[in-house]
This record gives sequence, C-alpha cells and structure tokens, in this order.
Amino acid sequence: MLHAPSVAGPAQAWPLVFLHGFPFSREQWAPQVATFAATHRVVSYDLRGHGAAPVGPGPLMIEFLVDDLFGHLDALGIRRATLCGLSMGGYVALRAVDREPGRVHGLVLCDTRADSDSNEARLARAESIRAIRARGMEALAERLLPALFGKDAVATDGPGVATIRRLIGAMDPDGACQALGAMACRLDLTDRLSALRTPTLIVVGDRDTVTPLEASRRMHAAIPGSRMVVIPDAGHVSNLSNVAAFNAALTDFLQGLEGRPGAGQGP
Ligand code: MLT
Repeated sequence: MLHAPSVAGPAQAWPLVFLHGFPFSREQWAPQVATFAATHRVVSYDLRGHGAAPVGPGPLMIEFLVDDLFGHLDALGIRRATLCGLSMGGYVALRAVDREPGRVHGLVLCDTRADSDSNEARLARAESIRAIRARGMEALAERLLPALFGKDAVATDGPGVATIRRLIGAMDPDGACQALGAMACRLDLTDRLSALRTPTLIVVGDRDTVTPLEASRRMHAAIPGSRMVVIPDAGHVSNLSNVAAFNAALTDFLQGLEGRPGAGQGP
C-alpha cells in the first residue's frame, strides 16, 4: 500500500522528512529537496491518494497518514527524524509528534494549524467534494488557486502557481475527496500543544489566508520554546512563493537543532 519514498543526500546525515499539502504531491518540495540533500538524508513521498500514490480503500483519516509516515521511517531504518509539513502535511506532522514524540527530533509546521475545522470550513469541504464530483479536479483548482496564492499571483503566474496548478490537475478525484473527508474529521490538537517538548519552528507566509498568521501565532504561543518565522511575499504555499526566505528559515532552525547540546542520538 505504501508508495516508495524518494530518498536523497548522505545516508549518515540527519533524516529530514517533507510532508506535502493538499492536493499536491512530493514535487511541492523540489526546491527544498535540492537544497537540503547537501546536508541531510532527505525523505519525501506522495501521501495516500496524492501524486503517484494509490488512493486505497476509504475512509481516510489523518491517523492512517501518520501510520504511513511511521511505516516509511521503519522501512528506511529511521528511528528519529525531523518532520517538515505544510498545511495538511503539518496536520500529519503534528499528530505524529503527538502520538509518538520519541520519533520526532525536530518539528517544522508550515502554513498549518492545530485546531480542527470550523463550521464554515466543513461546509466548504463538502462543497469542494460536490464540485469535484460534478466537474472534476479543474473545478477544485478554480476554487483553490486564488486562495492559495492570491488573485494577483494567479493572474501573473507568480512563483509556484504553475506547479501547483499541474499537481492539482493530476490528482485522482477520489484521492482528493478522501483527503477532504480526512481533514474535515481531524482532531483538535490545540490543548495538547503545551505538552510538546520537541524543538519546533513555525513558518507562515505573510499573505497566507488559508491558514492565517493568527493560527500560527496561537501555536507559537502554546508550544514551549517554539520559534516563528513569517515569510515575506508569500501565500499559503510559502516554500514555493519565496524559496530563498523559506530555505533560510529552515537552514537556521536545522543548524540550531543539530548543534544543540543533548540533541539526542543522531541518525
Ligand atoms: C493544504 O494546503 O494542505 C490545505 O489547504 C489544508 C486544508 O485545506 O486544511
């Protein structure tokens, strides 16, 4: 059932796992994989029903995406890794550290949130499922792209827009509907953030309207010792909107993490 991950970089380096957002694929992380494979054992993969990963039987839950993550780590012989997840990938990363903190060395939460769907968000997911069933993934792209990047960036084909448009178009409609259901039913982890002891970086685009700055600020306030970096000129997919600023924030965090005294056992 697990689709083979892509692994790059030195085998003995610290493992760094990238978890993509909805409805994208591991390709979302191409600029980060290219950079961090110089210093890390970089793992990226397509989450169930996304990219080239098979959809599988429904219903889908975030729990199963967490199971898949641990399954990939086990298969690669990785006991502990730093997780970097954007939006839905952040839901997976946060739930993973909540379930098994001992397996997570560092946590990077990008353009994501800890709380569950509001009434409006759940209704919007239902509407997205109806639109996909009626008119396919093109209908979802129309709904999502302006929200992900802003109308101006879509009109001018700003950084990342073409890539994300292509990834949405290539997604299996059943996989998209399952993922929408899984996100609508996810657990609210807000009350558990204060118990987190994993070094955490929170990253958010300054123009993110899908998971706005306020959601990141709340996580930052609740997670002990966490850092927060706002990426300038960036929407929801901040790693593509402003690659240089995103990579600089991640580099800074990783250097501090791996150099810190008592950083735990290496890879
Ligand atoms: C994502 O980028 O993964 C989605 O916007 C997350 C969501 O819809 O909650």
